[in-house]
Amino acid sequence: MTADGVPAAPRARLGAVPETALWTLYHRAVEARRPDTLLPDPEAVRLVEEVDYPFEERFGDPDSAGVRLQGQLQALRVRCFDAEVADFLLRRPRGTVVCLGEGLETQFWRVDNGRARWLTVDLPESVELRERLLPPGPRQRLLACSATDHRWVREVDPSQGVLVTAQGLLMYLLPGEVRDLLAACAEAFPGGGMVFDAVPRRFARLAREGRLRSGGYQAPPMPWGMDAAEQQRLRTAHPGIAAVRDVVPPPGRGVLGALLPYALRLPVVRSRRPSVVHLDFAVPGGPAER
Ligand SMILES: C[S@@+](CC[C@H](N)C(=O)[O-])C[C@H]1O[C@@H](n2cnc3c(N)ncnc32)[C@H](O)[C@@H]1O
Repeated sequence: MTADGVPAAPRARLGAVPETALWTLYHRAVEARRPDTLLPDPEAVRLVEEVDYPFEERFGDPDSAGVRLQGQLQALRVRCFDAEVADFLLRRPRGTVVCLGEGLETQFWRVDNGRARWLTVDLPESVELRERLLPPGPRQRLLACSATDHRWVREVDPSQGVLVTAQGLLMYLLPGEVRDLLAACAEAFPGGGMVFDAVPRRFARLAREGRLRSGGYQAPPMPWGMDAAEQQRLRTAHPGIAAVRDVVPPPGRGVLGALLPYALRLPVVRSRRPSVVHLDFAVPGGPAER
C-alpha cells in the first residue's frame, strides 16, 4: 500500500535473463498501442502500465525509430508462434500447450479456444512475478522449474496432444542443454510438436561479447546460436524428430515490412537470419502427427 492507501503497483526486480521478459513485453506493448498494429495485445499494454519498472529508461523511448522497429519485429516473431499454437489447437482443441520460459507472454489471451490446457515452465523469480501479474485461470498452471531440469515433463498430460513452445529461451541455454531438451521433448511427446526461435550464430557471439546494446540496455550473453541454414541438422538431436519446418513470418508494415519476405529469400540473408522452427515428433511405428 502507498501512504494514501492506494495499492502499490507490482514491482519487478529480476536477474539479467528473466529481465529479458520485460524487454519483450515492452516491445509487444509498444507495437500493440499502434492504431495499425500487427499484434493486438491489450494484456501486454495493461501490464506495462501497471508494473512498477522504468521501461522507457531501461529499454528506450517508445516513439524512437529503434524501439518501434523492434516492436514490429517482435510482433512478427510472436505472430509465428501464435499461428503455430492456433493451428495445433484446431487439430487438438483440448491439447496442452507447454510454454517454456514464458515470462510475461500474454499469448494465452490471444489464442485460447476455451478448452486448451496451458502449462508455463519458467525460473522461480519469473513465475513469482507472472503469478502476481497474470494469475492463472482453471486451465492454466505455472511451474517453477528450469526447462533444463526435465522433471517438468512428468507434469504434462499427453493424452490430448502436446505442443511445446520456447519463445526467446533457447539462446540463453548451453548448446548441450538445447540438444538434450529437444531430445527429451521428442522422447516424451511422440506425435506432438515443438516450436522455438533461434538467433543466428553471429548475433549470439555479439551478445556473448557484450556488444548487443540498445540505449542503456545490454542483452545478456547468448550461449546458443543457430543459422537458419542449419535447421535440418536439428533432426540429429533425436530419432523421434520426424520433420523440421521453417516458420515464415507474415509481411510487416510499410515499405520495410513489405520487403521483408523478399529480403528473407536472398541467399545471404536466408541462411543467417533469425528463425522460428517447428519440429514434428514421430509416433513410434507410425507417421508423425500433423
Ligand atoms: C526473452 S524472455 C522470453 C519471455 C517470453 N517467452 C516472451 O517471448 O516474451 C526469456 C524467458 O526465459 C526464462 N528462462 C531463462 N532461462 C530459463 C530456464 N533455464 N528455464 C526456464 N525458463 C528460463 C526467463 O525467466 C524469461 O522468462
